Amino acid sequence: MKISVIGAGYVGLVTAAGLSKIGHTVVCQDIDKEKIAELKKGQMPIYEEGLEEIIKDEMKKGRIEFTLDCKEAIDKSEIIFIAVGTPPLDSGETDLRYIESVSKEIGGKTKADKTIVIKSTVPVGTSKKVKEWLGEKNKFEVVNNPEFLREGTAIKDFLEPDRIVIGGSEKACSLLKEVYAPIDCPVLCTDNESAEIIKYASNSFLATKISFINLVSRLCEKTSANIKDVAKGVGMDSRIGSKFLMAGLGYGGSCFPKDVDSFIYTAREKGLDFGLFEETHKINKEQRIMFFEKIKKELGDLNGKKIAVLGLAFKPNTDDMREAPSIDILKMLRKEKAEIHAYDPIAEENAKKSIDGLKTYPNIYETMDNADVLVILTDWAEFREMDFSKIKKLLKNPLIIDGRNMFEKIEGFRYVSIGRKTKE
Ligand code: UGA
Repeated sequence: MKISVIGAGYVGLVTAAGLSKIGHTVVCQDIDKEKIAELKKGQMPIYEEGLEEIIKDEMKKGRIEFTLDCKEAIDKSEIIFIAVGTPPLDSGETDLRYIESVSKEIGGKTKADKTIVIKSTVPVGTSKKVKEWLGEKNKFEVVNNPEFLREGTAIKDFLEPDRIVIGGSEKACSLLKEVYAPIDCPVLCTDNESAEIIKYASNSFLATKISFINLVSRLCEKTSANIKDVAKGVGMDSRIGSKFLMAGLGYGGSCFPKDVDSFIYTAREKGLDFGLFEETHKINKEQRIMFFEKIKKELGDLNGKKIAVLGLAFKPNTDDMREAPSIDILKMLRKEKAEIHAYDPIAEENAKKSIDGLKTYPNIYETMDNADVLVILTDWAEFREMDFSKIKKLLKNPLIIDGRNMFEKIEGFRYVSIGRKTKE
């Protein structure tokens, strides 16, 4: 099928790559000149495993192209995916200005029957607005097809999803089912509004699951329980499931914080109190403060203390720093005049944009020369392979404080983690 994807951000690029990979001919459009110029040369504006290979390969096959020209993208396709950003406003409300301008542009540039697929995360009721923005004279089908991909595993999540949700008319649903026919997974066809809510309900549930286990971890710390065993025992109940029960520094990223806020906002607009999710956020924020306090408790006065930090990205396998716990934690440490020496395998450049004057090093070991403590903020796989005998010689004190519970204990070190007894 001939498909265009409007917006070459995270979701847009992965969608464009995935759709071409499963055999469609895709035109991906964005208004960012630099981004499109890079993409035309096969250079990726974001880091995502496997993305570059697929895009380069599909470009060679002639199944994917990039353009600045919205009209060209619209004219060349029967189905138009909208994947532009839906950032949050200060109030928590979702800013739909990009969805609005793209919808108006599509409406103004074509009179032909086209199916418009909203891929961006949008609050319930947006599809109705999109229909209006497209213009009455046009007979567009508007479909909601929320994306559930995770950064770091986005390509796999696109090609092997748990489910595909399609919200719209029967006709539009069958068309979208055809689009996704090469993907083997359950498909839920529903109305637009339900599809819109499914996305927010899923993210809010997952965020709440994380805050839930973080809350329980606090009780484990006050007793001699072990949160890893508690989570394992709880997760063995198939009604609960073992995923997203990792206690630690809580969630960050571009999705959970903003989507939970938006869900609360939408509910409030309808006269409902979604206080449950306010609490989810509160616990998440507190988790960062409590971790900072753990460091302070171990080191006492932080003034002039050298802190080696491993991991800055909001989670492993991404260079994304949006809402990363590291930003808040480093801010608190610096306020007390601690000296930060940090390393992240790929988020260093973005981290420097979010954290002014951050001192970074090219590898794990250079960060910790003569440091008072080693602090882990992101659970990158390469940290599991660290040479602790080497680290012991480098650190001033054999002290490791781990915000991601990466180890059980570390021989020869005082090992402080989350929701578990400190191991000597
Ligand atoms: C999340 C959802 O998982 C995707 O399904 C959704 O499509 C996406 O948001 C979105 O709305 O676009 P993502 O933000 O990429 O994906 O990251 P996750 O892998 O879900 O992790 C979110 C955060 O939760 C990370 O900071 C991670 O460290 C934290 N987390 C995750 C925990 O603290 N504990 C866990 O057990 C799991």
